[in-house]
Amino acid sequence: MSRPEIEIRDLHKSFGDNHVLRGIDLEIAQGEVVCVIGPSGSGKSTLLRCVNLLEEPTKGQVVVGGTELTDPDVDIDAVRRRIGMVFQQFNLFPHLTVTENLTLPQRRVLRRDRAQAAKVAAENLERVGLTEKASAYPSSLSGGQQQRVAIARALAMGPEVMLFDEPTSALDPELVGDVLAVMRMLAQDGMTMMVVTHEMTFAREVADRVIFMDGGVIVEDGSPEQVITNPQHERTRHFLSRLLDPAMANVEENNAG
Ligand SMILES: Nc1ncnc2c1ncn2[C@@H]1O[C@H](COP(=O)(O)OP(=O)(O)O)[C@@H](O)[C@H]1O
Ligand SMILES: [Mg+2]
Repeated sequence: MSRPEIEIRDLHKSFGDNHVLRGIDLEIAQGEVVCVIGPSGSGKSTLLRCVNLLEEPTKGQVVVGGTELTDPDVDIDAVRRRIGMVFQQFNLFPHLTVTENLTLPQRRVLRRDRAQAAKVAAENLERVGLTEKASAYPSSLSGGQQQRVAIARALAMGPEVMLFDEPTSALDPELVGDVLAVMRMLAQDGMTMMVVTHEMTFAREVADRVIFMDGGVIVEDGSPEQVITNPQHERTRHFLSRLLDPAMANVEENNAG
């Protein structure tokens, strides 16, 4: 078997005395799509953020594409260029056009010249189906279109790995499908992806593996069939039943304080 694209070994992360990640071990192969599910506060975002060093792990190893990110001598900017990240909030520059949002990081970080950056921007806008919005400003786009621009901006940097943190959670329900369709296309194109999402249909159809996290550990790790359809752990079953019945989730979260 070839080397995993992402290797995480005994990863711990604490914020003060809040021990959030409590020993995560995970390998993700090249081209694999892994969906991460779990209750709010279980450490999903912190895990993704440790994979591109937006958070510094307290203990353990993270290796991406054979480079150990947790090596103190690593060129972290060089590694980050290989890892695209898409957040719930799109974080586009409101005063720049769509094309400018895509060309700016290429020029600043990758030092591409204007023509090259514009060419790569156009290719990636086409990939996400937004060629006709190249000159538009973000405020004139729907949330779903803005998120597709954010995905194109990440892709324009030529990443080996894409991390998605609840990319559709801020969207109106009717706009979710177009964003998921772009992510599905990326998966089919062979991108290595870690996706925090509660879109179970997407996880079932697109993920190679689903990971259920709770309390800073991986409780369950397997195929969508194993984890979603036939979970082995009570905590996973409980979480999935709450997803299907959000009214119950609210009651329990209020009780939990
Ligand atoms: N930058 C931070 N500073 C302090 N605490 C944080 C920070 N980021 C996350 N946490 C804490 O870590 C825990 C897990 O958060 P998070 O990873 O965002 O969970 P999830 O994404 O699963 O909802 C929470 O208790 C949260 O308050
Ligand atoms: Mg989160």
